[in-house]
Amino acid sequence: MILKGKNIVLGITGGIACYKAADLCSKLVQAGAIVDVIMTPAALAFMTPLTFQTLTKRPVSVDMFQLLRDTDMAHISLAERADVLVIAPATANTIAKLAHGLADNLLTSTALACTAPLVLAPAMDTDMWENPITQANIAALRARGAVIVGPGYGRLASGRIGAGRLVATEDILGAIRQTLGRKGPLAGARLVVTAGGTQEPLDPVRHLTNRSSGKMGYALAEAARDAGAQVTLITAPTALNTPYGVERVNVRTAAEMAEAVLGRLEETDILVMAAAVADYRPKVTAEQKIKKGEGALLLELEKTEDILAEVARRRPALAHRLLVVGFAAETENLLENALSKMQAKRLDLMVANDVSSADSGFEVDTNRVILLNPAGEQEALPLMTKADVAEHIIARVAALWRRDHG
Ligand code: PMT
Repeated sequence: MILKGKNIVLGITGGIACYKAADLCSKLVQAGAIVDVIMTPAALAFMTPLTFQTLTKRPVSVDMFQLLRDTDMAHISLAERADVLVIAPATANTIAKLAHGLADNLLTSTALACTAPLVLAPAMDTDMWENPITQANIAALRARGAVIVGPGYGRLASGRIGAGRLVATEDILGAIRQTLGRKGPLAGARLVVTAGGTQEPLDPVRHLTNRSSGKMGYALAEAARDAGAQVTLITAPTALNTPYGVERVNVRTAAEMAEAVLGRLEETDILVMAAAVADYRPKVTAEQKIKKGEGALLLELEKTEDILAEVARRRPALAHRLLVVGFAAETENLLENALSKMQAKRLDLMVANDVSSADSGFEVDTNRVILLNPAGEQEALPLMTKADVAEHIIARVAALWRRDHG
């Protein structure tokens, strides 16, 4: 939602990574942004304006002296309209011009005239990137507030392996979203979110776990980042990429998750427990792989740490107010079970998660939840994507946070 209706000026400079800008442009448009593309003359050697005009359904600007709507000066009107100026890919040449205030084409002129935040995704050969001149230019731009995403490391157009690749579209989108949201309702808040299903080892090659994919927790991390929070994601093993701008802490077991969460309580303003933490673990972890025997194998399980219960116990001694959000994954008696967990763990907000149907809960991209609070209010959300559920939850969290922080 954060991209919806936002004016994004997308600058494209002349490098082989230009073709990837089409994907970025398309994703921005799909997310509801109004995208105005400016190509440098060098970019025209790699891509045609028609590609971007087709994707954005808006004119693409190249000519420095082109007039928009008869009288507007293109570089002024685009600069004024921008909520964010994104340059991807950004060549060493354009980076140098930006660092020194040169304005010799429409993109560099627009950048000089633009007061909106600047997001740069550099792409170039390793030697150009590592050149002290480029590094000094990047440092100067960063010192002036520019957000630099990447470059990534990997195979370059020259065939070399090194730093200089344009980062994944997902990361550029993440940087744009974080930049747009940095003055959002959770600005200044330190939020910890847990995600994924913990793994409790039986032996060196086996563990007990559950079907959590981490999708709900990761979506919450992104939504909180977009709302301006400083986010730490404490995650059990998942197949998901770390969201841009989020600090990731990898854990495996319930005990490790408990240590990671409890060890950060002093520096946490908001805790969101979306992880599916094991309630039981094998009492003994075999040192060697358990061999198949003749009869049945009996496992003795013991309780794991109840993280939320321990948070509730420690909360009164904290020097600051901690907001705590819990989830209840239920296959029956959803409201009843969620209410009793909310009370037992003294939560500020409970997300009652119906995990009984195939389109909701574990693994899938959609979810169906009811939000409950200690005042007895209930908000049942219809089936929606986990990204949308996350935005709803974070909006509720932000309202609680603002109540306490003005
Ligand atoms: O990861 P996905 O595939 O996207 O699936 C999302 C989800 C279904 C895992 C998620 O939406 C969800 O419901 N998470 C909570 C799962 C869970 O463990 O629920 P619970 O009812 O067993 O636990 C209640 C609360 O106590 C939870 O906030 C849980 O994180 C916490 N807990 C549980 C056990 C434990 N030892 N310590 C805890 O703090």
